[in-house]
Amino acid sequence: MGTKHRKNLSHRHKVALFLGDLWILVVLLTHTPPAEGRPQAAQNNGTSSSVPRFGAHEYAYVSSWPILDRTLGSVTAVAIDGAGNVVIFHRGSHVWSLETFDQKDVYQDAAGGPIANHTVLKFTHDTGSLLQEWGANLFYMPHGLTIDHEQNYWLTDVALHQVFKFDLNHSTTEPVLTLGTRFEPGNDMYHYCKPTAVAVLKSGEFFVADGYCNGRIVKYSPEGVPILAWGRNSFVLTRTFDLGPGPVPVNFFAVPHALTVVPDRDLLCVADREQGRVQCFHTGNATFHSQYSSPEMGSRLFSVKYISSDGGLLYTINGPELNLVFNSVVPVGGFILEMDSGKVVGRFQPNNPRHAFSNPHELAVLDDGSEVYVAELNPQMVHKFRLVSAPRPSATTPRPTVARNEGENTSKDHYYAGGQPGMSSALTAGSIGIFSIVSTLIVTSLLVILMARVICVRSGQGASRTDEMPLRNMAVDEG
Ligand SMILES: *[C@@H]1O[C@H](CO)[C@@H](O)[C@H](O)[C@H]1NC(C)=O
Ligand SMILES: *[C@@H]1O[C@H](CO)[C@@H](O)[C@H](O)[C@H]1NC(C)=O
Ligand SMILES: *[C@@H]1O[C@H](CO)[C@@H](O)[C@H](O)[C@H]1NC(C)=O
Ligand SMILES: *[C@@H]1O[C@H](CO)[C@@H](O)[C@H](O)[C@H]1NC(C)=O
Ligand SMILES: *[C@@H]1O[C@H](CO)[C@@H](O)[C@H](O)[C@H]1NC(C)=O
Repeated sequence: MGTKHRKNLSHRHKVALFLGDLWILVVLLTHTPPAEGRPQAAQNNGTSSSVPRFGAHEYAYVSSWPILDRTLGSVTAVAIDGAGNVVIFHRGSHVWSLETFDQKDVYQDAAGGPIANHTVLKFTHDTGSLLQEWGANLFYMPHGLTIDHEQNYWLTDVALHQVFKFDLNHSTTEPVLTLGTRFEPGNDMYHYCKPTAVAVLKSGEFFVADGYCNGRIVKYSPEGVPILAWGRNSFVLTRTFDLGPGPVPVNFFAVPHALTVVPDRDLLCVADREQGRVQCFHTGNATFHSQYSSPEMGSRLFSVKYISSDGGLLYTINGPELNLVFNSVVPVGGFILEMDSGKVVGRFQPNNPRHAFSNPHELAVLDDGSEVYVAELNPQMVHKFRLVSAPRPSATTPRPTVARNEGENTSKDHYYAGGQPGMSSALTAGSIGIFSIVSTLIVTSLLVILMARVICVRSGQGASRTDEMPLRNMAVDEG
């Protein structure tokens, strides 16, 4: 066992390191300055070049938020409490890597203990000052954070396979409700497998997205008694059955990754991550209601949040494309969709290399849409955006040209860099053309090498599945 295990490990390690490099490359590629002209053309449909892009939903980047005298771990979640403070959940020194889980989704470093740093930090939304921190020595691999209307905190931990409800008036160390079985993955009433997120209705009933391996949503009574469960895991790398050709049907999830409640329509919307779509369901009976996707958003969608402004808007963030050889042009960014029409009516994205999106994981929006926060896994940080134009229905509203001093040096940070959009997009498009050819060649050759290695590992040791792990984990990773 000992030597074979070591051998496997070192093989996995090599592939892991290699994949790590590949991933960095992937990030770099998908991370090239977004082709400014593309989304614009797609959105305006060539109707009129003088029509401002998303004039009604324009956000400025606010740098230097929050104020913190130390570094964060991977920030996996951000939420806004009832007082308008911004709360984040981060992983401290823990990192979700290829070695974090075994093939059966069991966490491998329980002996290493929980994260010693405080994992939950609360900041004022305006100044970004730290107000409160807690959550040390409780969590192993933080994922989701939701604050309900009673100010209960709901947190999920993918290593523990558990969901916790904290009433901070009661305790910041003892949850008032714990669901799932500590460190035991499973798929029944007492077990989750890497649960991702929670959403709570005004009635106190709540939903758990479960998660990376089960692809189901479970609805509970306020006391935590299961009422309903639905959804099947269609994630191509972990499902155990064949799906027919064509679009994946509704009610299938490839990592239900984030949740949002649409109270005025009695809907629960789910970010169906690896299928690049949002699926919405009636909260009462779990019946499918509608879904949202867009070529602009690409094939990976990490989160969705609803606000009631402008007749109902869904804010989403996508992630770096995995199939970049064929599709490297979808920039990583935030999108605003009109719920009624399904149209993308806005975008937010720090258009600045110092702050650009890389692996955004979760977002939070103030109720009136005036501010948006995005949690990043890596670089480990939180992005803040401020609305610079009041939401207006008219598409012909002139683009605001106010000096938007939301912090130091902010003019650089706007997604809509002022000045000559045509010129800069021509430049960007040109360099992207050459760059993507070169990078496609590099990536293709790397993939060939990778395939060769995987095949070698496979034939070399005859063990059927160890070689699949890194690939599988890589895709399931980052979350
Ligand atoms: C955009 O253009 C396509 C084809 O050019 C057309 O089918 C579609 O209706 C247009 N959409 C809008 C919103 O104008
Ligand atoms: C964890 O806590 C230590 C001690 O307070 C601090 O030095 C370090 O920066 C913290 N690390 C993170 C990731 O919060
Ligand atoms: C905690 O106390 C505050 C202030 O009394 C209250 O607004 C809040 O709802 C309480 N939280 C919970 C979870 O009951
Ligand atoms: C589920 O609930 C919605 C809203 O109440 C209703 O319109 C729909 O018909 C219900 N579907 C089923 C199958 O009961
Ligand atoms: C603002 O930009 C100037 C010049 O680009 C730079 O010298 C300065 O350090 C920046 N200020 C901050 C706070 O980043």
